[in-house]
Amino acid sequence: MNTAFDPGACVLGIETSCDETAVGIVRGETDVLANKIHSQVRLHAPFGGVVPEIAGRSHMDRILPLLRDSLKCAGIGLSDLDAIAVTNRPGLVGCLLVGLSVAKTLSLGQGIPLIGVDHLQAHVHAAFIERPDLPLPLLSLVASGGHTSLYLVEEPGKGLLLGRTRDDAAGEALDKAAALLGLGYPGGPALEKKAQGGDPGSQRFKRPMLGPDSLDFSFSGLKTALLYHLRGPGLSREMPELQDNELSDLAASFQEAVCDTLVRKLERAIAQTGAHSLAIGGGVARNQRLRYCLMRSPAIAELELSFPPLDLCSDNGAMIAALGHRQLCLGQRDDLSLDAAPRSIARGWNRSDHGAA
Ligand code: KG4
Ligand code: ZN
Repeated sequence: MNTAFDPGACVLGIETSCDETAVGIVRGETDVLANKIHSQVRLHAPFGGVVPEIAGRSHMDRILPLLRDSLKCAGIGLSDLDAIAVTNRPGLVGCLLVGLSVAKTLSLGQGIPLIGVDHLQAHVHAAFIERPDLPLPLLSLVASGGHTSLYLVEEPGKGLLLGRTRDDAAGEALDKAAALLGLGYPGGPALEKKAQGGDPGSQRFKRPMLGPDSLDFSFSGLKTALLYHLRGPGLSREMPELQDNELSDLAASFQEAVCDTLVRKLERAIAQTGAHSLAIGGGVARNQRLRYCLMRSPAIAELELSFPPLDLCSDNGAMIAALGHRQLCLGQRDDLSLDAAPRSIARGWNRSDHGAA
């Protein structure tokens, strides 16, 4: 292992893969000096989803002010940085290119290393920022608007993809269910709020397990089940007028089906891998019902659990900086030919394995 990179070095991380512009600065891998995030939720809300061109333009507007804010918050100048890490996959390519352009300019201008970071691996690595002592192997669930993936981490910065969604991501299912129920955007938090006080057992949606051994996910059928529940088989009736308590019951039941499916898949993965710890990441990891369901599972309770703080669960720059730091310590670095890619690195985190994900 090449440890030429100083373990106490200062790394700046840039995140522009989707609808959050974010800049974080870490010293070493666990000391977060700044973690500044600008969410574009209000820009995309009228469209009910992320509009790539609007997202790219907003990244352009926000990235330099965020960079300045982060340096100020950290109390350092550009010349104090030892490396620049940047998300270069997966994501909206037009958005990724904004972050990449700034990162390359900083790397060239300061004469410091540049390192490309996989956004999903950074969500996994976020667990180590607060808990560098997590016993390995670590099982990690990343559940967001675009991805639902399970990883096994044998060593920080290296891991194996065990399973991923075959269609909709968990967050996407929650977003679509919330839209069907007229709860607004983004749907995950809106559905969680409406579910409070609702009965999670009032409607039993089938949990999509995909056979006895699979660690893949499939959430598109759940959304269809809710649609048919509301509008009848073949959409034979109009959307019913729901009372507030009925809406709460449906929101709670749908949320329960998503959480329960995630928990059961994790229990299955624990049995198959013998993992010693578990972490969750991605926007859906902010969900309190999911955290509760995880903690009440006897198989999961036997492991060391890491639920990162909320601002390290959703998209942020500190996780990019922290994984960038680790990759640099592992001797990895990129040059100015670093490119943006819409897909994640496939099964292994070996950097030569850049297949489709
Ligand atoms: O990781 P993230 O911030 O962005 C990416 O998609 O990469 O995740 C966003 C997703 C959205 O689907 C959003 O509805 C969901 O995370 N989400 C939640 C909660 N907060 C955000 N889902 C359930 N409960 C929440 N509290
Ligand atoms: Zn994300």
